[in-house]
Amino acid sequence: MAAHAGPLQVEVWRGTDTGRFQTFAVPRRAHQTVLDVVTEIQRAQDASLAYRFACRVGMCGSCAMTVNGRPRWTCRTRVSEVAGGDDRLRLEPLRNFTVVKDLAVEMTRFFDKWRDAGGAFEPAAAPAGDFAVVPPSSPQRQAADAGIECIGCGVCHSACDVVAWDPDYLGPAALNRAWTLVNDVRDAGNGARMAAVSGRGGCHACHTHMSCTTFCPKGIAPTYAIAGLKRAMVRRAIGRR
Ligand code: SF4
Ligand code: SF4
Ligand code: FES
Repeated sequence: MAAHAGPLQVEVWRGTDTGRFQTFAVPRRAHQTVLDVVTEIQRAQDASLAYRFACRVGMCGSCAMTVNGRPRWTCRTRVSEVAGGDDRLRLEPLRNFTVVKDLAVEMTRFFDKWRDAGGAFEPAAAPAGDFAVVPPSSPQRQAADAGIECIGCGVCHSACDVVAWDPDYLGPAALNRAWTLVNDVRDAGNGARMAAVSGRGGCHACHTHMSCTTFCPKGIAPTYAIAGLKRAMVRRAIGRR
C-alpha cells in the first residue's frame, strides 16, 4: 500500500430522506474495502450506524451503497480504487430507494418489481420425467446465462434515470431477470411474462442510457436484456413466436 499522511476522512449519511453527513476519521489499512471502513466505524466509533451486509465476498448483493457519487458493491470495492489523492470517502445510501436509516435502504419494492415482471420460473403443466437437457451452446441458453449471475444488489436500479423519474418502471434488474426466463426453454410462463414487460413501466420505458450496464458489478448488461425483450415483443406481435 502506498504511504498515506493520515487517516481517511469519511463522510457518512446519517438519517433517512432527511439528515446530514457526519465525518469520521478511519485509519488506512492494507487491502481495505469500503465495507471494512463502514464496519470499523460501526464497531469502534458509533454503534448506532445502520448499514447492511452478509457475505462479504460478492455473493449476497446486500452491501451496495453510493460511494463518492457512484453506486457500488462495497465488499468488493477497495478504498484505494475510489478514494482520491485526498483520502476522502463520501458514503450515501443507494439512490432510487427509500432509506430505512443511514446506509440501509428498503428493498421490498425493488423485489416486488421482479415479481411484477414475471420473474419467477413457471413449470410446465406436466413436468418432464427427467432433467431437461439444454445445450450450453444454444442461443437461448447463452442469452439466459448472460444475465443469470445477478445478485440483486440494486446498483443498476440506483443508477437508472428512468427509475428515478418513473416510479412504475420495472427497472433494469427486474427486466434482466424476465429476459433470463424468456430464454429458459423449460419455462412455460412467457405469455403472462411478455404481457407484464410490454405494459406501462415495461421495457419500452427504457431509454438505453446504459448506466445499469456501466455500473453492474457482475458485468451483466441489462440494457441488452431489455433490447432482447423489445425484439421478442415485436416477434410476438407479428406472430413469429
Ligand atoms: S439502459 Fe434502460 S434500464 Fe439501463 S439505466 Fe438506461 S434507461 Fe435504465
Ligand atoms: S443486474 Fe447487476 S447491478 Fe443489477 S441487481 Fe443484478 S447484479 Fe446488481
Ligand atoms: S456483502 Fe454480500 S455482496 Fe457484498
